[in-house]
Amino acid sequence: MGFKLTEEFKAKAAHICARYPRRDASLIPLLHEIQEEAGYVAEEAMDELARFLELPYSRVKAVVTFYTMFNREPAGKYHLQVCRNISCHMAGAPGLLGHLREKLTIAEGETTADGLFTLSTVECLGACGSAPVMQVNEDYFENLNIEKLDSLLEDLKHGKYPSKR
Ligand code: FES
Repeated sequence: MGFKLTEEFKAKAAHICARYPRRDASLIPLLHEIQEEAGYVAEEAMDELARFLELPYSRVKAVVTFYTMFNREPAGKYHLQVCRNISCHMAGAPGLLGHLREKLTIAEGETTADGLFTLSTVECLGACGSAPVMQVNEDYFENLNIEKLDSLLEDLKHGKYPSKR
């Protein structure tokens, strides 16, 4: 099954490319566009985008692999990304992660059967002062503890996307 950049996408991409002096500078914004549309960045999408931008496939793949914000497989509706670096670790991230594993009965890299949650660990999110931190899709939830985490999960299960806490 191939991935095709639609004409609509190409028009949008041309618009984005025009904002930058060099075509390759639009790589990350375009990857975001693909992820927004498809929910993840498939190998075929990387290949098509590399051709579109006239960049080596290896360059596109390296960017997608480096940035944990890009999903390489279909993710759940809510992508729970627990920071695994030192400040968050010291502030209780391992306990939060264990709680999530147990409660959702999934391991890192897995998605719940209902397609609602994907669980990952990620490198420092740059919000160490309010550790422990978890990113959900594009938003950060800071100073987390088990109680806040449970309340957040309940909200998400009921379709409520709470403001940051
Ligand atoms: S160590 Fe977790 S945000 Fe920096």
